[in-house]
Amino acid sequence: MTDQKTSFEKIAVVTGGARGIGAAISRGLALQGCDVAVMGRNKEQLSAFCQELSSETQRKILPVVVDVSDPEAVAKAFGIVSDELGAPTFLINNAGIAPAAPFMKTDLATWNKVLGVDLTGVFLCTQQVLPAMIKAKDGRIVNVASTAGLKGYAYTTAYCAAKHGLIGLTRSLALETTKTGVTVNAVCPGFTDTELVAEAVQSIAAKTGRTSEEAVAELAANNPQGRLIDPQEVAEAVLWLCQESSGSITGQSIAVAGGEVM
Ligand code: NAI
Repeated sequence: MTDQKTSFEKIAVVTGGARGIGAAISRGLALQGCDVAVMGRNKEQLSAFCQELSSETQRKILPVVVDVSDPEAVAKAFGIVSDELGAPTFLINNAGIAPAAPFMKTDLATWNKVLGVDLTGVFLCTQQVLPAMIKAKDGRIVNVASTAGLKGYAYTTAYCAAKHGLIGLTRSLALETTKTGVTVNAVCPGFTDTELVAEAVQSIAAKTGRTSEEAVAELAANNPQGRLIDPQEVAEAVLWLCQESSGSITGQSIAVAGGEVM
């Protein structure tokens, strides 16, 4: 690595970065020249993904097992990143869970778990990197929120509450950091073709008796383009926000949702 680093020859952290949208983001950042710490819960999946990405891109790709909702584990995980790679310039808060249930069947444990991962996890990870970003006068924080952060969907109160909260966090922290060289934005995908949606489709089919094809069509119908979003399309929006030339874009929540009205 030279002293004259180009915009992307820096260190990135992607939470939930070994599958779905996160995997597309990790890969995009590595292809642009980043060394990437890929965080997630599943050690085998992380190791396999990181090995493959490292040989594809010749970058350092570091697997880090962590539950982002656990404060001690998060502190330890970012300590490993700092020791092995250095201080991150890019933090992509992507890890998330999206269980669906009617409001009165949402128990407190589920509520706390969703808030813990989708909102508190972002709070914890961001606190780990922000001081060094401010010191370096260089940082990009991108939160993978959701259209569920901008509008309501039935049977997902915990998820919608967490993602609305995440957009609030994004807007507030963006204003707090305007003079620091750090930007804070959210991308808000509509229904995207990942395992998370595959699980939702299975659950809809099991609960309603519809076929999987009918359940996919129902989700895709939210998108005026009539399709699921490709994870790569979300990754491209994240990469754009990470560019040096995107420095004036902060506090934004950018929908990647085929024109779905919020
Ligand atoms: P996914 O289920 O394929 O991936 C989620 C990743 O987060 C997994 O790698 C998982 O291991 C990780 N993760 C979950 N809980 C974690 C925890 N406690 N600690 C560390 N890692 C954890 O899901 P997908 O679809 O790729 O979702 C990525 C993000 O995009 C999520 O925040 C999700 O809410 C958001 N999103 C997804 C949409 C979709 O339709 N797939 C639509 C809008 C937003």
